[in-house]
Amino acid sequence: MSTQAAPEDATSATTRYEGSVRDEALRAQARTGRTFTLRINRGEHGDSAGRWESYDVELAAGMVVLDAVLFVQAKHAPDLAVRWNCKAAKCGSCAAEVNGRPRLLCKTRLEDFNLAEPVLVQPMQTFVRIKDLVTDVSWNYRVNEKIIPFRARTDRPWKFYQRDVEKAQEMRQCIECFLCQDVCHVLRYSGEEKPAFFGPRFFVRAAGLDFHPMDAEDRVGQLRGEGGIGLCNITKCCTEVCPANIHITDDAIIPEKERAVDAFDDPFRGIFRRNGAPKP
Ligand code: SF4
Ligand code: SF4
Ligand code: FES
Repeated sequence: MSTQAAPEDATSATTRYEGSVRDEALRAQARTGRTFTLRINRGEHGDSAGRWESYDVELAAGMVVLDAVLFVQAKHAPDLAVRWNCKAAKCGSCAAEVNGRPRLLCKTRLEDFNLAEPVLVQPMQTFVRIKDLVTDVSWNYRVNEKIIPFRARTDRPWKFYQRDVEKAQEMRQCIECFLCQDVCHVLRYSGEEKPAFFGPRFFVRAAGLDFHPMDAEDRVGQLRGEGGIGLCNITKCCTEVCPANIHITDDAIIPEKERAVDAFDDPFRGIFRRNGAPKP
């Protein structure tokens, strides 16, 4: 009887070797013993100013800000409130502000910061705090309910090309983090009484419906009226913070604004148009 082991598959041996080298490198980085200071703005319901608390956090390889917040929760402050679900930039629930900029905590790498300085984490400032880093974003869901829903066209077969749905598909990438709502100055400085302004997230949603080739509705009148799209002055701040890389201003807001001008402010086109502005 032979005692010789079966020859190992070369690919799996290489993969295991590379994996062990990589893991060892990661472990070595994590063993640096380095710590940095995380400052978290904490507070109870409705406390907009809050209080800043400082925590020492052990740095580990590949750490994101959410890891650091969870380290604080595990080691220093078990009552710290933070909302998260996927840790993969897909659910939108860990939205907050890091060093003053709206970001997903789970997508923000600590290696992007100068860790000789404290890293500051605070809740989204546009919405009322529930506790610590968790805010009440329910106003957004009430806005969402106002948007005219999709109604299918019946005058043509349900057939279209991929190029016809690409604009609508871009709008469907939204993960409802509300970082764009947080950064938008029209909403940010309005306090609890929000103005008649749907905000960038819902301009995206309305545009996604308007751009669908089989949609029979037109939301441009709604956006110009209760949606308040005229208040947007195209600063593009919303586009800059969108983790789904939706070109909010260029691909949703500006086309809808142009359609609103065509529909309501262009007297020449108004003579020939009976049913709102042409859909894209
Ligand atoms: S571009 Fe318009 S919607 Fe976006 S942040 Fe600026 S004002 Fe708000
Ligand atoms: S449009 Fe972008 S920033 Fe705004 S809620 Fe959706 S994913 Fe978040
Ligand atoms: S935990 Fe889901 S997006 Fe960050």
